[in-house]
Amino acid sequence: MERLNAMITGVGGYVPDDILTNADIEKLVDTSDEWITTRVGIKERRILRGDHLGLSYMGIRAVRQLLEKTATDPKEIEAVICATTTPDYFFPTAASVISYETGCVNALTFDLQAACSGFIYGLETASNYIRTGRYKKVILVAGDKMTSITDYTDRNTAPLFGDGCGALLLEPTTEAFGLMDSILRTEGSGLMHLIMKGGGSAYPSSHETVDQHLHAVYQDGKHVFKYAVSYMADVAAEIVERNGLTNEEIDWVVPHQANKRIIDAAGRRLGVPEEKIMINIHKYGNTSSGSIPLCLWEWEDRLKRGDNLILAAFGAGFVYGALYLKWAYDGKKT
Ligand SMILES: CC(C)(COP(=O)(O)OP(=O)(O)OC[C@H]1O[C@@H](n2cnc3c(N)ncnc32)[C@H](O)[C@@H]1OP(=O)(O)O)[C@@H](O)C(=O)NCCC(=O)NCCS
Repeated sequence: MERLNAMITGVGGYVPDDILTNADIEKLVDTSDEWITTRVGIKERRILRGDHLGLSYMGIRAVRQLLEKTATDPKEIEAVICATTTPDYFFPTAASVISYETGCVNALTFDLQAACSGFIYGLETASNYIRTGRYKKVILVAGDKMTSITDYTDRNTAPLFGDGCGALLLEPTTEAFGLMDSILRTEGSGLMHLIMKGGGSAYPSSHETVDQHLHAVYQDGKHVFKYAVSYMADVAAEIVERNGLTNEEIDWVVPHQANKRIIDAAGRRLGVPEEKIMINIHKYGNTSSGSIPLCLWEWEDRLKRGDNLILAAFGAGFVYGALYLKWAYDGKKT
């Protein structure tokens, strides 16, 4: 049997209209536009406002756009995998909500949680469904409503996060396109350095957990930064080397967007100039699982068939990794 690869055949995306600027953050915590810009690289982020609007609100819009752009009948979709840390509910899954609202009634659905590495873990998982030969059309939705778990009284985390969601269609090919290689790893010593403690089975929701602000992201930024900066660059360099790519052969680097300084370090390590690095952190902040697919969505018109893309991410756990992707089509699907 011929070897099947999983190629991306379309990209959709959604970011909310409402903008939270650094000036807005300055009114909430003791910080400054200058500090946020120079230390993190964010100028503004999007925020999903409105009562009881969850991640699925954005996921539904990203998937509808994807189906329209690829002229796909939702009934043909066989799996919808949603990579998120902020599903609407503990259960049912965001994937089931999104599938229902987009007419993907014949799809198996589940959520996948790998924090800020959700997209790259999701792409490996979705690709494996395609590679079995049994699934022909799989949607990966990836995004987060990070503002729902951000403590706007904590200056260490208040400026960092934003909301957004991307969606991709994956289909089989026997040609050398799609996900070519992946390295996905876990460094469990990170547990207590980047965590939302409250609401799970270890610290079920109570008045106490609310009073202690345990339902928001806690991050020991300095510690996480040290790991993120070396692990993300190292794993990206490792996948490049393993696939015998020279730095000139890398067309695009698509890093998770947690801090511009981490992105710059990865670019330097790979010897790739900034114009080949997709960056959206300045306008969207850290959208967690959404950061990489939103880059692909925005850069779609510049991507060409055969382009070599290196994707890399690092997140809570710590879970991290890098993917090597060969892009399968020219320009933007409309
Ligand atoms: C969070 C992060 C931006 C903080 O930047 P940093 O340069 O490391 O800042 P530090 O935490 O060392 O703090 C430096 C100083 O700035 C202060 N500071 C923290 N947040 C601030 C803010 N919003 N405004 C102004 N000052 C702030 C700190 O209190 C500290 O002051 P001190 O030296 O008097 O104690 C950075 O550590 C980071 O990006 N970490 C990794 C994020 C990541 O990759 N996460 C994983 C994926 S989501």
